[in-house]
Amino acid sequence: MIRQKIVAGNWKMNGSKASISSLVNGLLEMSESSAEVVVTPPFPYLSQVADVIAQQSGLVLAAQNLSQYEKGAYTGEVSTAMLTDFKVTYVLVGHSERRSLYGETDEVVAEKVKMALSAGLKPILCIGETLEEREAEQTLLVCERQVAAVIDVVGIQAFENIVIAYEPVWAIGTGLSASAQQAQDVHQAIRANLASLSTPVSEKVQILYGGSVKASTSAELFTMPDVDGALVGGASLDAKEFLDIVKAAG
Ligand code: G3H
Repeated sequence: MIRQKIVAGNWKMNGSKASISSLVNGLLEMSESSAEVVVTPPFPYLSQVADVIAQQSGLVLAAQNLSQYEKGAYTGEVSTAMLTDFKVTYVLVGHSERRSLYGETDEVVAEKVKMALSAGLKPILCIGETLEEREAEQTLLVCERQVAAVIDVVGIQAFENIVIAYEPVWAIGTGLSASAQQAQDVHQAIRANLASLSTPVSEKVQILYGGSVKASTSAELFTMPDVDGALVGGASLDAKEFLDIVKAAG
């Protein structure tokens, strides 16, 4: 099955009004691409980026996180209704930084996925193993566990509207990218695991790779049959580098 590639830039906690304006303007230079190109600014800049996107199509807006609650006394949290107000399409859920630094468990991640889906947002479910887990040959076990926790709450069919991002923790922000073949092996296993529950869903679900993706490594990565795009951190802060990754996606 042909799956559209997604190239998503996660800007994490970086930027200012001025730097985001110049980054977005740089991205507007994007030439036609068969990939869906997604940008994920920090919350305070969603509106600024949404305004530019409204005038010039081609970029799709994502948020970095959401609350698992609908509304109310949750100081510091951001609801799905607030995200849809700003025309957000995708939302990252369970990024390893949320899991490791803010204690998000598999159960919380699953609740967030459920909340996102109920509001019509598309979750980008981030999964992946630590270096210790890889060395203990637990990579697939960890990925399966993280996906299973979500299936338990939303069901397998819901994965028609969920994107998976495989992001080995040891490759995030370290410059140590998984090789294209290592990424392919894990993506294939994740898809096979989904296929044991539903072949049509497994064939449809887009699986992105994340972890030190650069323009120079993306071309080979995108030749892999089960790699449906990339979730790019550091390299997405440079418009030219990010657009070169988009170009590599075709
Ligand atoms: O969300 C993106 C990932 O954490 C990858 O970040 O490209 O800086 O390694 P990175």
